[in-house]
Amino acid sequence: MRNVTKDNITDVFMSYMGPETPERLRVVLGSMVKHLHDFAREVNLTHDEWNKGIAFLEAAAEISDAERHEYVLLSDVLGLSSLIDLLHADPDGTSSSVLGPFHISGSPKLELGGDLRKDCDAQVLLAQGCVKDPDGNPISGATLDIWQTAPNGLYSSQDPDQDTYSFHGLQTVGADGRYAFTSVRPVEYTVPSDGPVGDILRACGRHPWRPSHLHFIVEAPGFRPLVTEVFPEDDQYLDQDTVFGVREDLVMRYQNMPAGSFPETGFALSGAVDEAYLKVDFDLTLVPA
Ligand code: BEZ
Ligand code: FE
Repeated sequence: MRNVTKDNITDVFMSYMGPETPERLRVVLGSMVKHLHDFAREVNLTHDEWNKGIAFLEAAAEISDAERHEYVLLSDVLGLSSLIDLLHADPDGTSSSVLGPFHISGSPKLELGGDLRKDCDAQVLLAQGCVKDPDGNPISGATLDIWQTAPNGLYSSQDPDQDTYSFHGLQTVGADGRYAFTSVRPVEYTVPSDGPVGDILRACGRHPWRPSHLHFIVEAPGFRPLVTEVFPEDDQYLDQDTVFGVREDLVMRYQNMPAGSFPETGFALSGAVDEAYLKVDFDLTLVPA
């Protein structure tokens, strides 16, 4: 086409794709370009504005490395990561939620009733529940990859003072599907805001806070893996998570348990906790693959 105009350029783009273009690529890329072109037409995008956009993309690339994933963060704060989760949600299972950049693989085994808290002296949190299928049957042998912030609001990968796998554990449930561990209450924290995504948040008058949460990846043969997180109902950021991760069914309640009521058996800390503690019961439902 030698007479490209602002009105026909989208069709011209589509016509340049060869017959060997895989169908799904044609649909996805074609639609993305159509929306990009429509967006530029709709806002009458200027050269200066698009140059700023390019500078943003370059800055995001520059700050990214094996540990810092600025484009994932961008997708998170734009709500795209959550939207993709929601598009593929199965109403029969526990909702999924953002993975975030702080998951590390290879977490050490956490025995049933094991302790993630180690020598941290904050109040004990006892977390337990059942991994089950949509009919309520326990899923024997499911694994839970669990991670959370330390009381200082940092994940181990962000904090040189923590061991690599501090507040990370991998637990396998038995025939009753029950998981159980002790930890400390995770705290609210800010997503990394010292890079170009932080600039966008500030420019839009947005804060970088996430409500506190426990992360889980739950897997079992024959079921869809579940990447999720659970949030306490009393967190001040529950209704304004900067990465849009909260779902109604992921909200849980910490019970205040009185001194002297910690289970006498079944936990690594049994016999060692006399004080009041927090308890949360939260079941996780996997859907068949
Ligand atoms: C997280 O929950 O660890 C997280 C998720 C998205 C962006 C940053 C952190
Ligand atoms: Fe997190």
